[in-house]
Amino acid sequence: MASRKPLISGNWKMNHTHLDAIAVVQKLAYSLGPADYERAEVSVHPSFTALRSVQTLLDADEVPIALGAQNVYPADSGAYTGEVSPVMLAKLNVRYVIVGHSERRQLLGETDGMVNQKLVAVLGHGMSPILCVGETLEEREAGTTEAKVLGQLKADFEGVSPEAAAKVVIAYEPIWAIGTGRTASPDDAQAVCKAVRAWVGEAYGSELAGRTRVQYGGSVTPDNVAELMAQPDIDGALVGGASLDAERFARIARLGHQAD
Ligand code: PGA
Repeated sequence: MASRKPLISGNWKMNHTHLDAIAVVQKLAYSLGPADYERAEVSVHPSFTALRSVQTLLDADEVPIALGAQNVYPADSGAYTGEVSPVMLAKLNVRYVIVGHSERRQLLGETDGMVNQKLVAVLGHGMSPILCVGETLEEREAGTTEAKVLGQLKADFEGVSPEAAAKVVIAYEPIWAIGTGRTASPDDAQAVCKAVRAWVGEAYGSELAGRTRVQYGGSVTPDNVAELMAQPDIDGALVGGASLDAERFARIARLGHQAD
């Protein structure tokens, strides 16, 4: 919808050294122009080891790409070997933090309880979480997609005030579509994103629901992004594989339009 500016986010996962990350961001900054930033907000989510390098580059060249992280630990500091705190991220001008990605839920055992704590921690430090929710193939085939997604939302938003909830971006990512080349059809993606927005409306009221950005994620490419973004309840994309290459990601950020 016109009132919600799409957010196109590149989740680089465990790819790109800090040197690769700098090269990609430089190319991206060169490929995108004011008309693109007018149409969509763009964020990149490098590994922790590359955050500082990318931040320095974005700041020095005043590139209007938002810096994002892929994860966070829900404590300000302490004896948590190997973890990174929201204080550290906020100091790097990180604006968006991915929370509850299915890879972390599945491979690292992240529960909704942990996701909720992370969501609260990110919000507590003035950053916006990109909260990932989505169903497995078995759940889709069993017809329990909405129940799964809405159940995750309920648990992950536990105790979050309306003021804080207004800063959350929700990414609907069907797990069977992530990294598989299988995208949800625009109709199916729209149906779930609409249900997500309806849930926000029930929990926080229709005004906030109308402002909340709901991204779709799962095998988004330059070829399918325009069709997905044309859906009324899809306000952006969380892009994995196709965000690693600057030119492909720039095409996605242009919402599928070719360079002028
Ligand atoms: P994909 O990943 O675009 O490679 O499917 C999306 C994601 O995991 O956020």
